[in-house]
Amino acid sequence: MQIIKSVTEMQNISQKLNGKIGFVPTMGFLHEGHLSLVKEAHKKCDFVIVSIFVNPSQFLPNEDLDSYPRNFEQDVKLLSDIDFIFFPQNEDIYPNDYKTWITVEKISAEFCGKSRPTHFKGVATIVCKLLNIVNADFLFLGEKDFQQLVVLKQMTKDLNFKTEVIGCPIVREKSGLALSSRNKYLSEIERKNALSLFEALQLAKINFKNGIVDSQKNISQMQRLIEEKGGVVDYIEIIDSQNLEKISKLKERCRVLIAVFIDKTRLIDNIEI
Ligand code: PAJ
Repeated sequence: MQIIKSVTEMQNISQKLNGKIGFVPTMGFLHEGHLSLVKEAHKKCDFVIVSIFVNPSQFLPNEDLDSYPRNFEQDVKLLSDIDFIFFPQNEDIYPNDYKTWITVEKISAEFCGKSRPTHFKGVATIVCKLLNIVNADFLFLGEKDFQQLVVLKQMTKDLNFKTEVIGCPIVREKSGLALSSRNKYLSEIERKNALSLFEALQLAKINFKNGIVDSQKNISQMQRLIEEKGGVVDYIEIIDSQNLEKISKLKERCRVLIAVFIDKTRLIDNIEI
């Protein structure tokens, strides 16, 4: 495994690789969720590249860019079986004269985009740049960030990337809590309260089985469950998985998306019905 810090060097190397390149973009502080993407990349590709870059442009000014957890040494240990770690410097990615931004319209403005208006512009831009740098044939993304997955699928399609996007299932703790680098912010009590996200999603699944399909009714019940455990709901939405349109009744294979504040920590999760 080689660690590459320079954009030019990474681009030169990736353009000379002879075989399929699998790419896993991350912001580091890796956990089993990230590693499940790496595993999928190994299955499908000849070369695996993982980027570690806490992308400033996807954080809003009041968000946790400075405190976002980082542990590069530990990440390197966890990635010993890949080919390249791309670990660029901020100045190399966004030099002083940087001016180009990618906006995936409409779907970026919904859900997480409502409380984080410029977030997906930052995500789409960095992933577009990274795909050009690493020359990826396959891009591995987690369904944990379901809206991000849909936004990036749209971007690669619209901009004629050769890259195929592969969505991978959510990895959870035994308790049901979805793994996330931001779980590090949770105290012991908050961690317990955070289980309400998964419980609420399960509730929708059980309701569907029992014929309770009205979206608003499900949303109200989920909201109550979360609030009883001290969570503050940012949004709960029931959507068609393909086009992210809100639907008034639950149906097979629709998605329930939620974002909840557990004290100051904002967590997201989702489930396929
Ligand atoms: P980060 O939060 O580090 O996540 C990197 C990838 O890991 C994303 O595709 C995310 O969906 C996936 N992931 C995170 N937790 C997961 C879990 N519990 N199960 C399965 N996959 C999981 O998402 C980002 O970074 C950034 O926005 C990025 C795409 C790197 C652009 O900066």
